[in-house]
Amino acid sequence: MRNIDGKAVAAKVLDSVAQEVSALKEQGVTPGLAVVIVGDDPASKVYVGSKVKKCEELGIYSRKIALPAETSEAELRTLISDLNNDDAISGILVQSPLPGDLRKIEDDIVEGIDPAKDVDGFHPINVAKLVMGDDTGFVPCTPAGCIELLKSEGVELSGKRAVVVGRSMIVGKPLAALLLNESCTVTIAHSRTTDINAVCSEADILLVGVGVPELIKKDAVKRGAYVIDVGINRVDDPSKKKGYRLTGDVDYKDVFENCEAITPVPGGVGPMTIALLMQNTVKAAKLQNA
Ligand SMILES: NC(=O)c1ccc[n+]([C@@H]2O[C@H](COP(=O)([O-])OP(=O)(O)OC[C@H]3O[C@@H](n4cnc5c(N)ncnc54)[C@H](OP(=O)(O)O)[C@@H]3O)[C@@H](O)[C@H]2O)c1
Repeated sequence: MRNIDGKAVAAKVLDSVAQEVSALKEQGVTPGLAVVIVGDDPASKVYVGSKVKKCEELGIYSRKIALPAETSEAELRTLISDLNNDDAISGILVQSPLPGDLRKIEDDIVEGIDPAKDVDGFHPINVAKLVMGDDTGFVPCTPAGCIELLKSEGVELSGKRAVVVGRSMIVGKPLAALLLNESCTVTIAHSRTTDINAVCSEADILLVGVGVPELIKKDAVKRGAYVIDVGINRVDDPSKKKGYRLTGDVDYKDVFENCEAITPVPGGVGPMTIALLMQNTVKAAKLQNA
């Protein structure tokens, strides 16, 4: 019955990242992040803008490369290859989704990034390292942020029953792998799961990333569970100036009384994602200069 304050936890992560950046700079190393955006997707522009701004605040060098939607596969591959060979760049991120036909080859484009610079943690080498429990790789930022939030609450993960709802490569699957590495007993639910409420209500820790506004109600939550809501959904709301409000995949009001602690949307997992991206960028700079 309490809120997990993602902004406060993210601020602590960012403080320690800032200290690491200063220490690296004293050794003559400046971490650098290249953010590649193709096309004009408004949400992507906002995400890229906040990543660049956060780099500036922390003293991380950033390079935003904005390309037109008509960019060819060959041009994009050449750019990635140049960034792989650029010593000023420790981390490379290609903002998803790519437009048009490029979307179909998004995985191939990511595979072109040097795994040592793949700060999003989406390259197959980094996916394998995560599954193997090898911490020299990069873990996707949102799932890593979820684990940090649970640890900040002092949750002893070992032996807990964790249910992850959603099985995407950016949220559900890496999250399940991280929880397994923490010795949780992990169940993954998805759109084909039968009786999802029964599955979820076994969870000591329930983590939801599905993209369906307020899918999870109190019937699905065991009393005293920890609930991490990864969802960010826009729902129409004429009472708001923008005409919409943001909501999670969990019905926060319905669930609040039942659970031990829950992340709000916004202000829960969201701020952690960018903090962990900064942490990954510094980790990349350190590994490349070890
Ligand atoms: N906080 C952040 O920084 C952050 C970062 C990334 C994503 N997100 C949010 O997280 C949510 C999920 O994103 P994503 O990229 O993982 O989405 P995604 O690729 O669309 O995957 C959604 C997953 O949810 C499952 N699912 C869909 N409807 C379901 C239902 N009714 N019951 C059970 N499972 C269902 C799907 O199952 P199937 O596999 O069976 O189709 C799929 O595995 C979105 O709201 C997104 O905005 C937030």
